[in-house]
Amino acid sequence: MKKDNITIILAPLQGFTDVTYRNVFSDHFSGVDEAVAPFISTMGQRRLKPSRIKDVDPANNKNLFVTPQILGNVAGDFIFLADHLYEMGLKKINWNLGCPHSKIVKKKERIGAFTVS
Ligand SMILES: Cc1cc2nc3c(=O)[nH]c(=O)nc-3n(C[C@H](O)[C@H](O)[C@H](O)COP(=O)(O)O)c2cc1C
Repeated sequence: MKKDNITIILAPLQGFTDVTYRNVFSDHFSGVDEAVAPFISTMGQRRLKPSRIKDVDPANNKNLFVTPQILGNVAGDFIFLADHLYEMGLKKINWNLGCPHSKIVKKKERIGAFTVS
């Protein structure tokens, strides 16, 4: 519940705060106003991973407003995913600019590594 104009946003934890977690959480607890979903990695060749799209589909997230997060290092793939999410009714995107996990760092999925295609 919003109090004193402060918005409490559930932080994303990849592998934990997925749609099931968020729905169970909001069924049993209050105090969180909205959530940022764990990052969706961009995929090449105009592909989308269905499970990641389902995770942020507003139809599956009726209790808690969810903002999808994108992680990727190819501008065209980022735009493709962002456009798809926008068409699904998700008008806000959270842009992950620096996941410190070593597996992700190796892929250079950060703004410094963005390429234009
Ligand atoms: C297992 C794990 C997964 C995470 N996944 C994401 C993620 O998908 N997107 C993101 O922006 N941050 C992610 N984070 C970062 C957290 O949202 C949070 O910012 C970070 O843990 C710092 O908060 P703390 O100081 O309370 O631990 C992750 C952190 C952990 C430990």
